[in-house]
Amino acid sequence: MKIGIDKMSFFTSDLYLPMEDLAKARNEDPNKYLIGIGQSKQAVIRNSQDSVTLAANAALKIVDDSEKEKIDLILFGTESGVDSSKSGAIYLQSLLGINSAASGVELKQACFGLTAGIQMAMGHIALHPESRVLLVGSDIARYGIGTLGEKTQGGGAMAMIMSANPHLLEIGTESAHLTKDIMDFWRPLNRSEALVDGKYSSEEFINFFKETFENYIEKENESIANFAAIIFHLPYTKMGLKALRSVIEDLEDQKVKERLLERFEESRYLNREVGNLYTGSLYLSLLSLLHAHSLKAGEQIGLFSYGSGAEGEFFTGRVVEGYEKYITDETVAFLERRTPVSVTEYERIYRSFMEPQIDDCETEFEKDPAPFILKGQKQQQRIYEKQQ
Ligand code: CAA
Repeated sequence: MKIGIDKMSFFTSDLYLPMEDLAKARNEDPNKYLIGIGQSKQAVIRNSQDSVTLAANAALKIVDDSEKEKIDLILFGTESGVDSSKSGAIYLQSLLGINSAASGVELKQACFGLTAGIQMAMGHIALHPESRVLLVGSDIARYGIGTLGEKTQGGGAMAMIMSANPHLLEIGTESAHLTKDIMDFWRPLNRSEALVDGKYSSEEFINFFKETFENYIEKENESIANFAAIIFHLPYTKMGLKALRSVIEDLEDQKVKERLLERFEESRYLNREVGNLYTGSLYLSLLSLLHAHSLKAGEQIGLFSYGSGAEGEFFTGRVVEGYEKYITDETVAFLERRTPVSVTEYERIYRSFMEPQIDDCETEFEKDPAPFILKGQKQQQRIYEKQQ
């Protein structure tokens, strides 16, 4: 049975910060951010959005009335969850009106959470071929004003429906994993901002990629030439380019090298526009690649997922005939409608983030055009609403 991704959608804030402006404000050469880091814009997440509302806004684009009845499993990948006990999947089920016979859980292993969901969905659908699984990866990447990681912030959510006989990507059953207990990036329970050993994390990203990729090639008797594209989790888009270069630099076949570099450029187009999405990042890159419509039916893609701490997985997918019909310009048009903010306004919004607190509070939800918003909290319960 063919199992894979049937539908995909993306949501982020209506506000962004031009990276050139951030570089100037931090007394850095803009080309360091634009070329050295590979980011053009960074999503500025309003205080009326959290991982639950971002996920609901993304899923709203693909969960119609028929899906609400058919979805039987909700898998919510996040590393910026809003509760230590209750999962984001339950909020999502309620906000979207998904039938109450569906089950749902939250999955955490840094940016790997959504990929863990892909593997769970594969097994679930294999046992229940009629199943339709809703997966979301939703996060806000916060490092702090003036930190080294600031230029790699961002946020947003990817939503996907997985099923048998998918319309977009058939996922391969085999993959290569690597898990190691390392401290490259983490977020203690008392913090909304990540702690990171930036250089070490970037080195380990490449080490994890090379090891899982080479293991996969050996185990499956594969060749790099059989990949139409290799795409990555993109904490910043230069990271993926560095990882790709590590396996193509010694290739003699220039055509393969050029093809992989061209497809990589297509795969980082959307990520350049928003910054790090954590769990959703690899899948935004997939959407970006499919959006270019350059792949042909049946071609094989390699996907590398990395979650600090750390877990890496290299797996594959094959593009389904006719996928182009289902990948419209909606995401690009949505990103083009966003409004730029100044560095001063970005810093104000950043500082207004709804940190865990005891007191009742209200967000600036009235300014937020998103369908689902976080209004604030009362008696330590988050108040979500759908705007008309
Ligand atoms: N023009 C063009 N390029 C320039 C330049 C200029 N004027 N000035 C500098 N550069 C280049 C540098 O040469 C460098 O390129 P290489 O990486 O190819 O060597 C690049 O710009 C970045 O420069 P620095 O290394 O000096 O940048 P930095 O130290 O200020 O910060 C960072 C970079 C360490 C990634 C930092 O932003 C950070 O800590 N980010 C958060 C951590 C992170 O994203 N890690 C990624 C792996 S972990 C992961 O994947 C999980 C996750 O999602 C977080």
